[in-house]
Amino acid sequence: MFLPAFDLQGKTALVTGAGRGIGRALAIGLAEAGADVILLSRTREQLEEVASIIREIGRQAYVLTCDVTKREDVARAVQEAKEAAGGIDVLINNAGMNIRTPALEVTDADWQTIMDTNLKSAFMLSQEVGALMKEQGRGGSIISITSVAGQVALRTGVVYAATKAALIQMTKVLAFEWGKYNINVNAIGPWYFKTPLTEKLLQDEAYVQDILSVTPLKRIGELPELVGPVVFLASDAASYVTGQTLFVDGGMTIHGF
Ligand SMILES: NC(=O)c1ccc[n+]([C@@H]2O[C@H](COP(=O)([O-])OP(=O)(O)OC[C@H]3O[C@@H](n4cnc5c(N)ncnc54)[C@H](OP(=O)(O)O)[C@@H]3O)[C@@H](O)[C@H]2O)c1
Repeated sequence: MFLPAFDLQGKTALVTGAGRGIGRALAIGLAEAGADVILLSRTREQLEEVASIIREIGRQAYVLTCDVTKREDVARAVQEAKEAAGGIDVLINNAGMNIRTPALEVTDADWQTIMDTNLKSAFMLSQEVGALMKEQGRGGSIISITSVAGQVALRTGVVYAATKAALIQMTKVLAFEWGKYNINVNAIGPWYFKTPLTEKLLQDEAYVQDILSVTPLKRIGELPELVGPVVFLASDAASYVTGQTLFVDGGMTIHGF
């Protein structure tokens, strides 16, 4: 291999929300880079489809159904992953959702669901997997999928934005605490990518034009364009990078008026 530090052979990655959208693309991309992959979400048949692609690539794939908002589910899944795969070297906190409502219409139930799915889940997974990585004694890499919405103000989605900003800060503090265990903690901040989460919004031509007007690269991202940055952060090539958020956003967050 031309750049061996990017090779993920010998590493096992756990990806949450791996059944569709960004998580599916990342799981397959990590396998293409050499990793075995543990696939986690609530929908088994989607995970099985991704697992069969990964096995065709020649890597091991493990399917675990889990509601990432529930501590007992998360603890059980990490234990099962450890037993099945023999350990975890890379954690991708990707599972997430949004309920787009103006701030004055957000209900307590909306608040709780978005917080639990986007933020509490990533913390619980990081805790369970972080403890395992510490015990394994061979370091590790934790990568959370935040959003440009955690960095700049979008028109709406205040609770989503709060969870994504919190992920950026959580990344820094975990990186600080766990550096001594050789665990690197980073985040990826995407702008718009076409997935089941954004599909409807991106059918609105006027909305897409608004997006492109604030995107220097003048296009929506393609899912494979998230794979390289994640493989980099998961690999030994990023061994001295920690606490960072890498925005994969066509330049959306760099400019003023
Ligand atoms: N698409 C974008 O443009 C974009 C931009 C910025 C950031 N992001 C972030 O990227 C991540 C993935 O987004 P996406 O667009 O790929 O979304 P998606 O297509 O809706 O996929 C979300 C994934 O998360 C899983 N998930 C949701 N709730 C879960 C739960 N309680 N337990 C377990 N798994 C759960 C879903 O699986 P099940 O429903 O089967 O459980 C699904 O696999 C999210 O964190 C999102 O905020 C996306």
